[in-house]
Amino acid sequence: MRKQIAAANWKMNLTLAEAETLVSSLLEDQEDLKEHQLVIFGVPFPYLHAMKQKVAAKKNYFIAAQNVHFQKSGAYTGEVCAAMLNSVDTDYVIIGHSERREYFDEDHQMLADKIDACLQANLKPVFCCGEPLSIREAQTQNAHVQAQLQESLFHLTAEQLTDFVIAYEPVWAIGTGKTATSLQAQQMHAHIRNVIAQKYGAAVSESISILYGGSVKAANAKEIFGEKDVDGGLVGGASLNAEEFRAIIKALK
Ligand code: PGA
Repeated sequence: MRKQIAAANWKMNLTLAEAETLVSSLLEDQEDLKEHQLVIFGVPFPYLHAMKQKVAAKKNYFIAAQNVHFQKSGAYTGEVCAAMLNSVDTDYVIIGHSERREYFDEDHQMLADKIDACLQANLKPVFCCGEPLSIREAQTQNAHVQAQLQESLFHLTAEQLTDFVIAYEPVWAIGTGKTATSLQAQQMHAHIRNVIAQKYGAAVSESISILYGGSVKAANAKEIFGEKDVDGGLVGGASLNAEEFRAIIKALK
């Protein structure tokens, strides 16, 4: 079975003390994960090291950064490069979140460069894609997401894309309380898998974990994760609450 993943995206929330309390609480009473189940905490840069120390001894718990710069090093005040993330044992990096695309003007090429920077430093990208409301209303979401995949991922080799993690996050469902129906999620996840299969073949496409993101919570996780092509979730708001996120982890296939 391909990896089923509950990924938290804390965004710009929590103090270090709050983060420690949250992770401790989740680690304390969480039953062991199954071999194919992963939990990833996407934490602010200053907490990467401390959070990695906390989860290091636990099997199948990992740490993600929420961003990375595409250059290797140099005079980029305020930025963080892949080698730095690697040096504090970061496992994953969230790339191309819609908030980065919208507020920080991250375009397809920059995201492709960030993916390359991650892979060169042995960091695993979690590549985000998804359409804004206007595109969904025009019913052109399939072409929109296909272009996002083609422009930022299709320079990779089949080997690099094997076991990759993609998060489909319809922008209209992020932080709005409005969730895609499980049918809408399944349809887009199947489309993503199909787009990848057409270029890379079924084996690569079937190996990729495709997470759904957008107002996932304890109350809807089981139904959404139950869909055939949904391999877990990338969770914002609900990942800040131990009870909620614990239930979301439990909802993994
Ligand atoms: P949300 O955010 O769960 O708060 O909608 C998801 C995300 O932005 O990754």
